[in-house]
Amino acid sequence: MDHGGLRLAVLRSDRQIRPAGQGNQTNGVTRSIVVQRKIQMTDTFARYPSLAGKVVYVTGGASGIGAEIVAAFANQGAKVGFVDMDASASAALCAAHSNVTHEVCDLRDIDALRAAFAKLRSRIGPAEVLVNNAARDDRHAWHDVTPEYWDDRMHTNLRHQFFATQAVAPGMIANGGGSIINMGSNSWFEAGGGFPAYATAKAAVHGLTRTMARDLGKHRIRVNAVVPGWVMTERQKTLWAKPEAIEAHRARQCLPDLIEPVYVARMVLFLASDDAAMCTASSYMVEAGSI
Ligand SMILES: NC(=O)c1ccc[n+]([C@@H]2O[C@H](COP(=O)([O-])OP(=O)(O)OC[C@H]3O[C@@H](n4cnc5c(N)ncnc54)[C@H](O)[C@@H]3O)[C@@H](O)[C@H]2O)c1
Repeated sequence: MDHGGLRLAVLRSDRQIRPAGQGNQTNGVTRSIVVQRKIQMTDTFARYPSLAGKVVYVTGGASGIGAEIVAAFANQGAKVGFVDMDASASAALCAAHSNVTHEVCDLRDIDALRAAFAKLRSRIGPAEVLVNNAARDDRHAWHDVTPEYWDDRMHTNLRHQFFATQAVAPGMIANGGGSIINMGSNSWFEAGGGFPAYATAKAAVHGLTRTMARDLGKHRIRVNAVVPGWVMTERQKTLWAKPEAIEAHRARQCLPDLIEPVYVARMVLFLASDDAAMCTASSYMVEAGSI
């Protein structure tokens, strides 16, 4: 997480790096060198004066990248409201920040989304920034997908991005502008398999981003997509980040390091800030060169 203060943090990359050009073999067994890099977070990452006091809504903010985004905005002095279906993780995150509030809500239910946003609005004001982050990358074999499952994946991974935008846009128009950031995915860019409905929904995020950027641009509302690569959230580490998969992905990336959620959050901060005032209708990659 993006902790404030002058805390020294061990960078989350306890990376296993094999020096280039060296076989690094001992008795046929490959040795790995664990490198720990130390950085001082507040010296390394930017502070955006334009984000102080901003009202920010985040969907799927209770865990993973969303939680990192919530913490990053909170540490910039923004007023943050997030929605998530995980009540206990939501309460734990809120307890860690004085300027964060939340509503428990299943975003597949659009009436519930609207009601949750109305509650956030009554508590912290209309959104000036919306981060459409919630999704779920469950695996599914193409031959098993039913029409019902397909629809459920669209409702989980795509539909709420539009209705959240629709819910906040009138307030942004009244306010003279805003920033909407839709979370995409590297998965379909890489022609990844094993989740056709998820990949389809994530590809559609780009169409949604560009058409809404056109419709809302005249009101100075910017709409952009952020495209994470393989990001080491707890869910990814638990379910899929096995050593062989990590090595294969490292080989695919241009950069050798695994992507931690903080780097996605940092791109989101930039796009939400006034520094990005002329950025809209575009996609911003945080994927270490894997595409
Ligand atoms: N982690 C990665 O490697 C990766 C890669 C590419 C794109 N992404 C994208 O980044 C975003 C965040 O992913 P993550 O890896 O942090 O996921 P995650 O599963 O770790 O967290 C997602 C959060 O969204 C919430 N959520 C899911 N469905 C919801 C629903 N119907 N209603 C309310 N809340 C719901 C979950 O409770 C959870 O808190 C997603 O849009 C995902 O597609 C992630």
